[in-house]
Amino acid sequence: MPNLNSILPPFSVPTDWDSVSKLYPIQSDSIWLNFCGISPISTYAKETMADFFDEYSRYGIFAPRYSEPKIKEHIRQKIAEILACEPHNIGLVHNTSEGMNLYSQSISLPKGSRILIIENEYPSNVYPWEHWQKKGVKIDFVPVGKTPEEFLGNLENEFRKEKVSLLSISPVHWCFGMPFNMEKISKICKSYEALLVVDGSQSVGHVTSEFVKWEVDFAVFAAWKWLLGPLGMGVVYISDKVPKDFEIIFKGAGSVKNDSNYLPYRSERKPPADQFEHSTANFNDWVYFLASLHMLSEIGFSKVKNRIYEVADKISLRLKALGFTLDSDFYPDLKSGIIGVNGFANGKPFVPEEIFAFLKQKKIYSAVRLGRLRLAPHIPVTESHIDKLESELKEYLNL
Ligand SMILES: Cc1ncc(COP(=O)(O)O)c(C=O)c1O
Repeated sequence: MPNLNSILPPFSVPTDWDSVSKLYPIQSDSIWLNFCGISPISTYAKETMADFFDEYSRYGIFAPRYSEPKIKEHIRQKIAEILACEPHNIGLVHNTSEGMNLYSQSISLPKGSRILIIENEYPSNVYPWEHWQKKGVKIDFVPVGKTPEEFLGNLENEFRKEKVSLLSISPVHWCFGMPFNMEKISKICKSYEALLVVDGSQSVGHVTSEFVKWEVDFAVFAAWKWLLGPLGMGVVYISDKVPKDFEIIFKGAGSVKNDSNYLPYRSERKPPADQFEHSTANFNDWVYFLASLHMLSEIGFSKVKNRIYEVADKISLRLKALGFTLDSDFYPDLKSGIIGVNGFANGKPFVPEEIFAFLKQKKIYSAVRLGRLRLAPHIPVTESHIDKLESELKEYLNL
């Protein structure tokens, strides 16, 4: 396969984090602290799109550098690198809900068994399971508790109660960032012979995601969060343990082998991961996504992950020094890119909506979730952004 450098415009790796931040024009005028919501575009992805559109305008679908099979294979390879799996385990979809629904509707679960989901889970990992209730499979929600250990205890209790056939979990809580112990969770699932499904939207890109080691059966995640990709693009992972005759409930023009030969109609399906693309793809997004993955991989996936933690830790320290309490106070040794600010140490009233609005008017973008002020930095957030955040919060607090 051709080297990525012969396809995409050259990416020169910045020598320091301040220069990385400059790849994100939004960070010169404001501070984006909602990378677990929707990430802004980098100049590198923007330039790649311009380059692609230039080639597409001249050659149409015969654009020599941007051919669909090549771009797809490179995306799969980069994701396989992040997940330590094989490219054939990876398929491309539009979002978490779509991938989760497709999987949920295509498997069988025993009547009378239960599906477990964590309490207050994001709807994309709840609604796709609801159809099972009409088929005699119950859905139960596991309380998260204050620490990952407490959660494990709650989970084991649930498993002990009644037959569980599937657990679908996000390795990091989307509202306040608690990271779950996936190795232990995987062991519990295996000992009870339950399928393990991962919603990786809040974890892939900033948490080590060893899907093969964790024996994950299926996973899906959005591209536009920790992977800095485009809106409306998602990725699925499907394990090799899936039956060979696995068929997605929907059949589209792209579901069968050799789909570019339209006639005669055929029944032989593509391999499992490929079936998630039913037909003509959102190819522009694929190019944007590959540019983002290339940028992250050139900087270094693991360097990126550590930098996210470094910045999140620095922000957390400043917040605590200002008197805020954090969800992570209960698990200080664990790392997460999502900071949940949940109150003041001195017990004074905490109104996250008010802090959110104050910061927004200062062009510092956060979110409010489940009674917390949620902050989620990524590599474009620098030490000077942290200083500015601190000084604006001091103004809010009249310090
Ligand atoms: C845990 C989790 N899953 C999934 C999503 C995104 O869902 P979808 O891809 O269906 O838009 C989010 C978005 O915030 C999320 O936090």
